[in-house]
This record gives sequence, structure tokens and C-alpha cells, in this order.
Amino acid sequence: MGPEKLRSVGFSTRAVHGGEARSKLGNAITEPIIQTATYTFANSAEIADHFEGRIEREEYGRYGNPTQRVAERKLADLEGAEDGLLFSSGMAAITTTLFAMLSKGAHVVVTDDAYRRTRQFLNQVLRRYGVEVSTVPAGDYSRLEEAIRQTTRVIFSESPTNPYNRILDLERVAEIGRRHRVKTIIDSTFATPINQRPIEFGIDLVIHSATKYLGGHNDLLAGVVLGSSDLVSAIRDLQGITGAVPDPFASYLLIRGIKTLALRIARQNENATRVAEFLAAHPKVDRVHYPSLASHPEHQIATRQMRGFGGVVSFEVHGNIDAASRLVDACQIPRIAPSLGGVESLIEQPALMSFYELTTEERLQVGIKDTLVRYSVGVEDASDLIADLQQALERV
Ligand SMILES: Cc1ncc(COP(=O)(O)O)c(C=O)c1O
Repeated sequence: MGPEKLRSVGFSTRAVHGGEARSKLGNAITEPIIQTATYTFANSAEIADHFEGRIEREEYGRYGNPTQRVAERKLADLEGAEDGLLFSSGMAAITTTLFAMLSKGAHVVVTDDAYRRTRQFLNQVLRRYGVEVSTVPAGDYSRLEEAIRQTTRVIFSESPTNPYNRILDLERVAEIGRRHRVKTIIDSTFATPINQRPIEFGIDLVIHSATKYLGGHNDLLAGVVLGSSDLVSAIRDLQGITGAVPDPFASYLLIRGIKTLALRIARQNENATRVAEFLAAHPKVDRVHYPSLASHPEHQIATRQMRGFGGVVSFEVHGNIDAASRLVDACQIPRIAPSLGGVESLIEQPALMSFYELTTEERLQVGIKDTLVRYSVGVEDASDLIADLQQALERV
């Protein structure tokens, strides 16, 4: 199905057919994995045709690969973006995008709840290169706007955020960005284009760790940035220099994973909502951070701008760090592992995983409570996940 024909079809159809040519190598139904590091030219005239843009073709593996291009087109179609660029990991997408958009003396505004490595890149690495960073509380739009300076180039936020599932009002963020001529970037990993499409609200660039829901099977690492052709093209130029490119096989696995994205997300939305409701009613759980709940601070915004609330449920176990560990250790279905978004449920205590080397006080300074548990709900039967949590909470 060509891109024009896809304009009016639904997300499940796009996930299966989007970005793919109708006719493929060898009449295969699946995308071929073009496992090559370089591409041959017939003669010197073809080299000139390539560099002068008279023909469209590949040149060298660091500048792109046909399997990668299909994954990019599929994701751009789902996200409603002009173009997309795949990377070897979500962090490669984040770091290359920010390096492409910033230079010495530039300033970034970022919201406070975010993946640990993104925080480190912004606050430690970028600072070493003379980029200034202001962190503002997620959901405080006055502080966000006040933080903007003459030198501000980017507003960066996750939505939903990792691990507290805070939700940004995307229309408001986009409007602030436009008024101040600052580019807005949303890491939409937790939502996927099935649950939310930030570009529809005027956001400039969307980033995903494709390692998570887009791949969906905990078997690949990839990242993607999506947006206007101009912005993506500038990032592609830098990727050709810095080199964080995806492998053709990872690109193939990603295409294969995306085919079931809509199905998986529907199931994960439903399972997570049921798990969140069960936990919210449990006496040994102090607080549940999940946007479907009326107690969630941005429940109204999430209901307005999302089609589903995602598969990650974060919650605070009553007691101390050991009580939370007892719960995690007693669970029999979710596996203990970092990451999220796959078909298998995963569970972890951020204090003992991403933030292990910090003290309780240091963790609290960055908002991570010792009793917090992050549960990435998979596609298993919700009743089994709930029964498992029920028995595990008895051991707390
Ligand atoms: C919200 C978010 N963004 C980015 C990343 C980084 O992705 P990757 O592990 O693919 O580099 C993660 C990883 O956990 C994440 O949760």
C-alpha cells in the first residue's frame, strides 16, 4: 500500500502495511534484510548522479540502509511525521538530536521527571560542552515559560514521564515553544503513536526508545526521531558523522514488531488499567501513578490528548525499601529487569536499579522514592497478573 493510499486508513492497518512497498525483492511478503555495509556503483558517472541528486540510492551503511528506511517510513506514517530517522538505541536518538540542535552557549529547558540517562546527558555531558540546562517541574507552565531565555533553543520533556507517568499538556508546550521560537521535543516512548501523536498538537520532534513498545519483544535496541523533513535531515547529517546507526537486522525486527503494535498496545492499556485499579484499592499500596485514575494529577489532560494510558504502572508500597523489595521478589509472573514495553511483564524498584548508587537522600532530591515500584505490564492475562500481585502483597 503506497503512502497516498494510507492517508485514510486506521492505525492497525498502518502498523501492518505502512511504509512498505507492495512489491518486494523475490516476491517476499516480509521485508528483506539488506545485510550490507556498503553499496556498489556501476561506474563514475553513477557516483556523480548520486551526489548531484539525480538518482536516489544508498551509498554507505553509516548513511542508511533499505531495511532501516522501511522502518523509518512506517514510523513516520504512524506518527504523522514528514520524516523519521532510526538509531542504534533510544539514547543515540536523544543525544544525536540534541547535539544537532545545540551549540556552545545554547540553553535547554527540561522537565524534572525523566529517564536517568537523559537527565545525566543533559545535566552532566551537555554542560561540559557549554550548554546550559534549566530543570522545571513537570506540569508547571509558568516556571517553564519563565525559564526561557534569549539563548533557549529546545524545550525537552517526556510525556508520560519515566517513572512517575506525569503528563504534559502538549498543546500548551507547543504554543509556548512557538511563541518564543524554541523547538519542542517530546520523548513519547511510554505512549507510542497508538496512544498519542504529539505532532498533532504542534510539537516539533518526537523521540522514542524503539527498544520498548515499538520493538515490543525485548529483543532489539533502537531509537527514532520523527518530525519535519528539515529538522530530521539536519539530524541525519550529524548521524552520518557520529555514527549511531541501527543494524539492518534490528531494523527488520523493529518492522516485524510494529506490525502488532496496535494489538499489543490495546491489550497493555487494558491490562495496566486493571492492574492500576487493583493496586489503588489495596491497603498495602500508598499511591498509584497511572493516568487513568481520577487521583492522577493530569488525569483530565491525559483523557483529552491520549487514546490509551499506556502499559507502565508505578506505585508506592506501604513501608520501606525492603517492603518494596519483598513485593518485587515475591512476584511470580513479571521478571525483574530494567526496560519496559515488551510482551513480557517486567518489574523493578527504581531505587535499586537505575538509581542504585545514590543514597536515599540523593534519590529523594531527584524525586525517586525508595518504596517506588515500576511495573511494565505485558500482554499476559490481567486476571493472572492481579492474582500474582495479590499473593505478592501478602508477603510485604
Ligand atoms: C523514556 C525513555 N527514553 C529513552 C530511553 C533510552 O532508550 P534506550 O535504552 O533504547 O537507549 C529509555 C530507556 O529506558 C526511556 O525509558
